[in-house]
Amino acid sequence: MLKYKTVKEVQAALKAVREKKQTIGFVPTMGALHEGHLALVKEAMEDNDFVVVSIFVNPIQFNNKVDLEKYPRVIEQDIKLLEEVGCDLLFYPEFEEMYPDGEPPEVDYNVNGLDKVLEGAFRPGHFSGVITVVKRLFEIIAPDRAYFGMKDYQQLLIINTFVKNYNIPVEIVPVPTEREEDGLALSSRNRLLKPEHRREATLLYEVLKRAKIRSGFQTVEDLKRDVVRKFKKAKYAELEYFELVDLYTLKPIVTWVQSSHVIALIAAKVGDVRLIDNMIIYM
Ligand code: PAF
Repeated sequence: MLKYKTVKEVQAALKAVREKKQTIGFVPTMGALHEGHLALVKEAMEDNDFVVVSIFVNPIQFNNKVDLEKYPRVIEQDIKLLEEVGCDLLFYPEFEEMYPDGEPPEVDYNVNGLDKVLEGAFRPGHFSGVITVVKRLFEIIAPDRAYFGMKDYQQLLIINTFVKNYNIPVEIVPVPTEREEDGLALSSRNRLLKPEHRREATLLYEVLKRAKIRSGFQTVEDLKRDVVRKFKKAKYAELEYFELVDLYTLKPIVTWVQSSHVIALIAAKVGDVRLIDNMIIYM
């Protein structure tokens, strides 16, 4: 696997790939890789001739400094996993390489308002930071396709809307969420959970599954109340939001017949680790 920290080196390597008329698949990550990331890489390897992974813990998408400091960084392990899976090139720049003019300002990108709700409401500036880094990475790598996990569904929808609204010639490919045996969605943050918190973290998946089963039988409001009640009984888990929204507009639904494509999204803190998850209820 080629490993580069500078834009110059990456672009020289990718020039040679393009000259051979090979397609480039790209998986942007913040490292602390798990099977969920590897599923993205494998999918990218199936669809493309050459696969690039980036690892960059992007400070401007963290609205919480403690969260940024605690974010796991295990580059040696990550490199090993990427070599094993067969990634072609790793780009792992330092801050100055990504942002040579210093921390970029917050930008209000036009993503049809999708960045203002749910995660956007709870984490001000988060999506501006995500779009800024993804835009920069797309400019450096110019991939044919880029792979994003369904676990961060709102992020996936926003990036998809961003490339459409700004005519960026990259195909965005969604990849289903990978889960532990007990249902917990794989996330780099899971490794920060204390054992007693880890056990309770399955509550997110449990309420999503229940929402899927109960949809249509219970009113939307009753279902949401049920979820709040379940979290009130929990010892360590604290609910931030549980919403049922239209899959494409993220507008809340109040009755089951309001939309033919509904997704449930949840965010909760378990101990001091913030987790998100989602499940398509129907489409
Ligand atoms: O999903 C992530 O890991 C990050 O938000 C991303 C897309 C790599 C941008 O920093």
